[in-house]
Amino acid sequence: VSIGTGASAEYEATVTSPVNIAVIKYWGKRNTDLILPTNSSLSCTLSQDDLHTKTTVRCSPKYKQDRLWLNGFEEPVVPTHGRGYRCLQELRQLRKVIEDENPTEPKLSEYKVHIVSENNFPTAAGLASSASGYAALVQALANMYNLTCDQTELSKIARLGSGSATRSVFGGFVEWKAGEDPLGSDSCAVCVAPETHWPSLRALVLVVSDAKKGTPSTSGMSATVSTSTLFEQRIKYVVPERLKDIKEAILNKDFKTFAEITMRDSNQFHAVCLDTYPPITYMNNISIGIIRLIHMFNSQVDPETNAPLGVRAAYTFDAGPNAVIYTEESNIKELVSIITHFFPPSQATSLKSYLPSAPSLFDIPALDQNSTIPLNESLLAPYKKTFVPFELGSIRRIIYTKIGDGPRFLNHSQSLLNEAGMPK
Ligand code: DP6
Repeated sequence: VSIGTGASAEYEATVTSPVNIAVIKYWGKRNTDLILPTNSSLSCTLSQDDLHTKTTVRCSPKYKQDRLWLNGFEEPVVPTHGRGYRCLQELRQLRKVIEDENPTEPKLSEYKVHIVSENNFPTAAGLASSASGYAALVQALANMYNLTCDQTELSKIARLGSGSATRSVFGGFVEWKAGEDPLGSDSCAVCVAPETHWPSLRALVLVVSDAKKGTPSTSGMSATVSTSTLFEQRIKYVVPERLKDIKEAILNKDFKTFAEITMRDSNQFHAVCLDTYPPITYMNNISIGIIRLIHMFNSQVDPETNAPLGVRAAYTFDAGPNAVIYTEESNIKELVSIITHFFPPSQATSLKSYLPSAPSLFDIPALDQNSTIPLNESLLAPYKKTFVPFELGSIRRIIYTKIGDGPRFLNHSQSLLNEAGMPK
């Protein structure tokens, strides 16, 4: 939108962008400068109703410098280098092409930009925000500059911010094609299936308690590429086969195959981390407990017929101890009951902050101080034989969400900047 008219007009855009969680992991760069990956990857976009980054960008002939506010704080140094600046420069360049072709267009490429960006999930939740963050930045700038490039083109610019951001410019099921061009012209995202394709698919984000900050993914993956011998096997043979199979499973809504590949790929990613020298570990004992519990869930039998119920849930872990569980809607109540029983909240945590979706999931009228999740003893009995509940507070929070759409465009009333161009 433009604010005002004539030579003093300002131009603005506000968007939200989603988080994505890979089921075939990106781990390894063949070019660290252009962020070109060693292998293709595939993710599910999660719903922005639950998790998103919101970003407003505005350019004005009045602004003296590019400025950036992240989650309420201004980034102290004017970002004239770094990944965000790189994305900005790329988009400015595309804007300039339009201006050179149409001399009547306002010269937005010469204006400085104010950027405000916020996550709707606390950074303390331990969730990665670079994917939604760079996707939101790139989408907002492209809108403000009135660029005509499509989402696949845009994904290449988001890639320069963070590899995983490549996949956050689409909703649904998204592949980041590694590509072959040394300059990265074919290293971009494509939508494998839209968010409406598999409406029963659900995700649970299990935020695991962890004090220490682990190895950042950029340095972690570079160490893996240069030291792991398992890694070569993974990118040469394992990933290409899995990608083909999981795409087919997604198109057929074949949960069992989708889930098995997802779990195996998460496990292999963490195996190449352990094969890195010195080794990198992202999962902790709570993560391992979650893996055990999901495998128990997947080996349950029907209490009446004794027939196996089959694979009904899949875990996946990124560069930290938090788990994301994929399952279908029909299993969600049972699964959440089991998880919350064996990973109970700390005494100080209200049900409202531990499991914000509790009222709709369990028909609990209101989330007051004393609300608890109803117990189902017969459901828990088979697990209790071998599984001992974890310490209170091992899982801090459970976010219940589904597959969602790509970046959303908001109007001026939702802007994060006030009239003076400062954060509201
Ligand atoms: C484990 O996208 O954070 O989440 O490209 O260096 O910014 P950079 O890395 P980043 O890596 C994410 C790795 C992962 C797997 C994935 O999302 O595919």
